[in-house]
Amino acid sequence: MRIGRTLPPAAAPIYMEDIISGLKGLIRGQKEINRFEAELKDSYKVKYCFLVSSGKAALTIILKALHELHPERNEVLIPAFTCYSVPSAIIKAGLKIKLCDINPETLDFDFTQLGDIATISKFKTKNSKLIKNSLLAVLPTHLFGIPADIYQTKKIMNDNELFIIEDAAQAMGGTLKEKKLGTLGDAGFFSLGRGKAFSTIEGGIILTNNKSIADNITKQMKNIPAYSILEIIKLVISSIVLNIFMRPVFFWLPKSLPFLKLGETIFEQEFPIKKISSFQAGLAINWQNKLNKLTKLRRKHTNHWANTFNSKLKIQNSKGQSLLRFPIKIENKQTLNSILSKSDKQGLGIMRTYPNTINNIKELKNNFKNKTYPKATMTSKQMLTLPVHHLVSVSDSLQIKKIINTGIGF
Ligand SMILES: Cc1ncc(COP(=O)(O)O)c(C=O)c1O
Repeated sequence: MRIGRTLPPAAAPIYMEDIISGLKGLIRGQKEINRFEAELKDSYKVKYCFLVSSGKAALTIILKALHELHPERNEVLIPAFTCYSVPSAIIKAGLKIKLCDINPETLDFDFTQLGDIATISKFKTKNSKLIKNSLLAVLPTHLFGIPADIYQTKKIMNDNELFIIEDAAQAMGGTLKEKKLGTLGDAGFFSLGRGKAFSTIEGGIILTNNKSIADNITKQMKNIPAYSILEIIKLVISSIVLNIFMRPVFFWLPKSLPFLKLGETIFEQEFPIKKISSFQAGLAINWQNKLNKLTKLRRKHTNHWANTFNSKLKIQNSKGQSLLRFPIKIENKQTLNSILSKSDKQGLGIMRTYPNTINNIKELKNNFKNKTYPKATMTSKQMLTLPVHHLVSVSDSLQIKKIINTGIGF
């Protein structure tokens, strides 16, 4: 166990003044939430915005709203390599998961397979010549903040009734062809969880311009509970704990406590869905300035890594972006383990990504018998991420570069 300066793999700061703003927000109550919502609508130029307790809560609500619009469709297409929260939300919404392999060069869908999936999902009903589609929605995902090519997905799927939901959980502040990520599909969502581009401890933002989707979400929101006083006290305590322990001088402590499960990706079928609290909205005061600053810094670090490593190691399209973590592929297992162990010893924040593909999640395995997603499987085994956040120093960068270059024999 390392005791000493340790970088978190990803970090969004919560400063003491943010916590004070949070507490002031608590006093202002609903007005504070309305302010955050109005600023988001204005900044993202969308007609509707909803604020909830997490990214997966946001996705569940969106999916339920879509299913109400097309009850005959019940499948949601996602990349086979993504965060486990995504299948969690699909199951919670009562829908079925459909997977597409990924392109390991971009981490986007493998577009050569997407068209086949779109065709297979279409079927003719017995008594009618009408062609129906079991696919309700497809989720292009900006993994680590790398923009997925939504336009290509739309073109291939070629179904006006199929919803494109942008999983921008990791991509708040990012752009594609100068358009803001999160606003390019029928609906999009951001996560405000720990270690995201911008954080309010936990939280989720839904954006849409589609009135029918928004009307259904508005109906659902009426029955979604608010945080209880106890839960708000827990959030306040978490914000103070995070303020202290995300600092590299102290991060070794929570990292060494296995029960905190830091950085672990969990598949959970039951999770709370709540409206965001005024404490979280207060934490987000001045979010545009804060997000802009963090985005600039992460872009600088992203470009540094993109210029440091050769194209065999990198993912396409990472340069010029403001990533959450910089993904690299290390083909040799021994090299990968040696890089990880050196990083752990030196506290450098290099980390694995999702431990497996979605079809290999224990609780879901039976749904994907005889199906394989070889490129997603290979990516899950080979991928490491380098930190790009505001806490990475020049000396950290040099050490990280050294252990990677030594590892790959450069
Ligand atoms: C790609 C992706 N989608 C969805 C989510 C869900 O967000 P949350 O953790 O806020 O529930 C995450 C969270 O890490 C994510 O990385």
